[in-house]
Amino acid sequence: MSLISDIPVLDDLDAPRASTVRATGEIQVYLETYGCQMNVSDSEIVASILKENGYGLTGRLEDADVILINTCAIRENAEQKVRRRLAEVRAHKRHNRPDLKIGVLGCMAERLRENLLEQEKLVDLVVGPDAYRDLPRLLGETADTGQAVVNVQLSREETYDDITPIRYDSNGISAFVSIMRGCDNMCSFCVVPFTRGRERSRSITSILDECTSLVDEGYREVTVLGQNVNSYRFRQNGTAVDFPELIHRISLVSDDLRVRYSTSHPKDCSDDLLNVHRERANVCNYIHLPVQHGNTDMLKRMRRTYSRDEYLGLVERARKIVPGIALSTDIIAGFCAETEEEHQDTLSLMREVRYDQAYMFMYSERPDTYAARKFKDDVPEVVKKRRLSEIIALQSQISLQNNKKEIGREHTVLVEGPSRRSNDQLSGRTDTNKMVVFDRRALKKGDYVRVRVHDCTSATLRAEVVDG
Ligand code: SAH
Ligand code: SF4
Ligand code: F3S
Repeated sequence: MSLISDIPVLDDLDAPRASTVRATGEIQVYLETYGCQMNVSDSEIVASILKENGYGLTGRLEDADVILINTCAIRENAEQKVRRRLAEVRAHKRHNRPDLKIGVLGCMAERLRENLLEQEKLVDLVVGPDAYRDLPRLLGETADTGQAVVNVQLSREETYDDITPIRYDSNGISAFVSIMRGCDNMCSFCVVPFTRGRERSRSITSILDECTSLVDEGYREVTVLGQNVNSYRFRQNGTAVDFPELIHRISLVSDDLRVRYSTSHPKDCSDDLLNVHRERANVCNYIHLPVQHGNTDMLKRMRRTYSRDEYLGLVERARKIVPGIALSTDIIAGFCAETEEEHQDTLSLMREVRYDQAYMFMYSERPDTYAARKFKDDVPEVVKKRRLSEIIALQSQISLQNNKKEIGREHTVLVEGPSRRSNDQLSGRTDTNKMVVFDRRALKKGDYVRVRVHDCTSATLRAEVVDG
């Protein structure tokens, strides 16, 4: 069996993405993005705001007059990665471009505010996730005065719903559509409520309009984004539209448009939503349902508001209502006071659920969170590492076993482009979100193709195209 790639961990998302559309404009901006899909989506909004205001976007850092880094603060190592990058950018400014403007956007900007200017010399702008409309003014001000500028104001209303994102790093087939911002959940380990502010939902009309335009432009898949999509709620003509209804309405935009979403908090994943999966063929048979831990006391300390049994009950319901639904999860190893037995509960829950995919992390204490204030980060680093590696090894085994069961089965795959290994091969995903590699033939990006699986690794299926 050929090894195609390793098991995915969320750090894949931490790989930076750079702006690649070059437009004419007097001032060229290079935009680099770290962190989650929400940040990728935000950078597309930033690109749009800048372009509307006469800036050009360049994919080459050396050509840039302005470098903007959209940052993540979720774990200490995410911040360290950004700091290393800032050091490189600073060196470039010092040696080659003294007039270069450097901006830090996103979650690290929001968390550290003015302190960033002291910690990271030569930074000219610090702009939080709700202040991107102010970017042109801020860029103008720092250019005029030579002074650093900061706007980290969070908003209760901002959803950028009138801004059409520029999808500069897109494959032209799959797009992110942001439907809400912020998070009110206050999980004890998590910095997001501090960096993203209060929950608010975008208008349903602007979401549906954006999806319709995407279909017209040839897109075939949308991933609907929010920190907690199940909390979506928008009042229209006196009635409230909730998340199941929104997904249903998006699925009606076109039968050729696949609909995915992320992230769904287990506490409010309802039967209504599961029924939409069952009833609408283009709502994918896949849910990312982060459990975080397998032990009820730990879940309490994490303030996740569900118990192990409630979570397992939800999994059972999901599989009953939507047979064959694929599930993925997020897991944290080594959270405060985690005992060996509690860790074993995470492993046993994984064996019980048998996730198709998991994103697995070592706990990293974040300043100001409930956990940082109330609990001790007392699991030694070596123990955290060992527990995480046990979790990763188990998931790798389960993913491989699940994928082996796929051998001989047929799936409809949306072609996304050439495979990573060879131009003669294409790749795309099943509606259960499994990556598949197959011969190119006369197929092209955006086609739906029927394939039969003949081989696999823990991360990828190999398949042949089914004729006819
Ligand atoms: N809104 C999503 C999660 C966004 S953050 C949800 O609630 O599911 C993505 C993942 O990062 C989380 O699910 C969690 O597993 C992980 N994470 C968040 N804070 C962390 C921390 N302090 N240390 C380690 N992992 C963390
Ligand atoms: Fe963080 Fe919890 Fe909100 Fe997810 S639901 S963003 S883990 S606070
Ligand atoms: Fe990171 Fe902010 Fe996303 S902290 S994970 S970029 S919401």
